[in-house]
Amino acid sequence: MDAVNLRDTEAMDFSNPSRQHRRVSILGSTGSIGTQALDVIAAAPDRFSVAGLSAGGRNLELLARQAVAVRAPAVGVASASEADLDRAIARAADAAGVTGYAPELFAGEGAAAEVAAWPDADVVLNGITGSIGLEPTLAALAAGHLLALANKESLIAGGALVRAAAAPGQLVPVDSEHSAIAQALRGGTADEVDRLVLTASGGPFRGRTRAQLQDVTPAQALAHPTWDMGRVISTNSASMVNKALEVIEAHLLFDIPLERIDVVVHPQSVIHSMVQFIDGSTLAQASPPDMRLPIALGIGWPFRVPGSARACDWSRPAEWTFEPLDEEAFPAISLAKRAAAEGGTRMAVYNAANEEAVEAFHRGAIGFPDIVDTVAAVVDDQRARESAGAGGALSLAAVLDAERWARASARVRCGLEETPLGSLLPDTAARSEGQKEKL
Ligand SMILES: NC(=O)c1ccc[n+]([C@@H]2O[C@H](COP(=O)([O-])OP(=O)(O)OC[C@H]3O[C@@H](n4cnc5c(N)ncnc54)[C@H](OP(=O)(O)O)[C@@H]3O)[C@@H](O)[C@H]2O)c1
Repeated sequence: MDAVNLRDTEAMDFSNPSRQHRRVSILGSTGSIGTQALDVIAAAPDRFSVAGLSAGGRNLELLARQAVAVRAPAVGVASASEADLDRAIARAADAAGVTGYAPELFAGEGAAAEVAAWPDADVVLNGITGSIGLEPTLAALAAGHLLALANKESLIAGGALVRAAAAPGQLVPVDSEHSAIAQALRGGTADEVDRLVLTASGGPFRGRTRAQLQDVTPAQALAHPTWDMGRVISTNSASMVNKALEVIEAHLLFDIPLERIDVVVHPQSVIHSMVQFIDGSTLAQASPPDMRLPIALGIGWPFRVPGSARACDWSRPAEWTFEPLDEEAFPAISLAKRAAAEGGTRMAVYNAANEEAVEAFHRGAIGFPDIVDTVAAVVDDQRARESAGAGGALSLAAVLDAERWARASARVRCGLEETPLGSLLPDTAARSEGQKEKL
């Protein structure tokens, strides 16, 4: 179980200066993580250059402008044609007065995985939202690139598949909590680690009871007090699903049993997480909330990038507070811990059901507490199917199949589709054949 092995500080090669310039491919370049990664790269041209860019296609013009600005050798888009991408890049080049720029283009469903596997790269930053990032994650690992992972959903859904595909030290976290833990783990040996403590800001609904969450609106859910992020992660932060995914992510990244991973609410978001060691010492990583720091450390790992972000200002009075999480109002974490302990495709189902429920909430189809209730119900459905003999076998096909079922099931539960649930169940007899590997 040492696929990731960030706890083994001896595995980090600090000695070879030629590793210090990195060619970086950014998946999800038009999003919150992607645009901040481009800022980091622009601010440190001696350390980084861009190898490839990929995005979904909702903002083709931005992708094209980015590609022209950094002369990305490879560019991919999921939901536009190659001809559309080509024309958008030609327009952007024209507007910028750039001539002779002719990148390799990839279009369609597999474009992000193609960019992830682009050979002239050292690092792939996966900043896609959702478990659609799983195949690009696997492609980056198969290509032998360092993978700076913001797309936690691919690790959650892929679980053992992703771990098995990652060589020791190949998978580096970008989530600020896991970056903090990876940094704090440098302060002790693997067997000196007692517990991991993830901090949570508490989101916009901290302090509310379940009843008080009933009528909150999508706009309120997106108004995160300390972080400016994409729609899905902002909603997940409000429901604590994001923290739930992060607990499982920490378990998978650092090989610490779930019962030794705690969550504490820290509204200021300055302590990004902590490691408690066996002698009673706790090491915490502190910096003002700014994703450019963990992004820079992720793509430059294990080297720090000077000036990545502002440091804490110790000349001003400051207060850091900590409080326990209200698990009754926010049951997402205990639900995820139970699901992850059961293994198989359970967390893939949890995550996929959540992605659909978040969409339904933003469309006004369900209320806010219904998001996690939907996840719980879909996970329960899968549990019931398995006790009837479906089995929790794991392969990429099994993960994708379970996700498809969970998405359809969640959409029906949220009233977005009217298909009867029974007709959505995959052929369980066919699925269990030849699938022996367990998560
Ligand atoms: N934002 C943060 O501060 C933060 C912090 C920690 C972790 N994370 C994690 O980082 C990931 C990204 O979050 P975000 O906030 O940056 O999300 P976001 O702002 O919504 O951006 C998502 C990006 O993914 C792209 N995308 C969507 N489908 C794609 C596909 N099929 N192929 C390639 N690209 C695709 C989008 O492209 P288009 O929009 O152009 O279609 C966009 O560039 C999530 O897993 C999140 O949990 C984010």
